[in-house]
Amino acid sequence: MNHVTELNHPLIRQDMGIMRNKDSSPALFRQALKRITYQLFIEATRGLATKDLSVETPLAVTKEKRVVGDIWLIPVLRAGLGMVEACWDIYPEARVGVIGLYRDEETLNPQSYYQNLPTFKALDTCFIVDPMLATGGSANAAIEFVKQKGAQTISLLALISAPEGIKAVHAAHPDVHLFSAAIDDHLNQVGYILPGLGDAGDRIFGS
Ligand code: PRP
Ligand code: URA
Repeated sequence: MNHVTELNHPLIRQDMGIMRNKDSSPALFRQALKRITYQLFIEATRGLATKDLSVETPLAVTKEKRVVGDIWLIPVLRAGLGMVEACWDIYPEARVGVIGLYRDEETLNPQSYYQNLPTFKALDTCFIVDPMLATGGSANAAIEFVKQKGAQTISLLALISAPEGIKAVHAAHPDVHLFSAAIDDHLNQVGYILPGLGDAGDRIFGS
């Protein structure tokens, strides 16, 4: 699957152990999410477009690079909020647009309740962040919204993805690359990822 990058790193596996553990507190859960998001965002930004930059050191003139276009973080509320600070730590200039979605418990269809998105410019890069990719309904809705606002370069960052969601996103948006810290087994009858970690929003916010 060349549209998916599954990160495999001993520190991610250790933090995933913390996040999956039903007894981990919201504080421990958020800290592990933050550490994993550092690695996801570093990997997802590897292919950013750059231009040459001339720099004068105290000793000589040399060439470095500068990122071209704005970087946009698009958290899907609520749980995506838990990934924003880590991305800002790495790229403080990143701008943020938000999409509010929740899953209808019966149909599992995403329900939209809030959006604050700009009109994107051609050189902008969007990173949609949401810890859980389950059926893919929320991710597909979020991608659709940012595309309607002109986004041309979009990546999706998830902590855990289900095969069902990966398939659904690739079918609807083959141009979107997914970076995921784990790919789990399957969904249960009520649309939760197995083995998963439960409800990401509840675990981040302690609700
Ligand atoms: C969770 C998660 C995703 C969505 C994934 O949000 O953060 O947005 O479910 O499921 P899907 O792939 O089947 O659409 P939820 O609806 O629980 O909202 P919350 O973050 O506000 O709790
Ligand atoms: N949303 C979650 O928070 N967890 C799941 O397992 C599926 C959807």
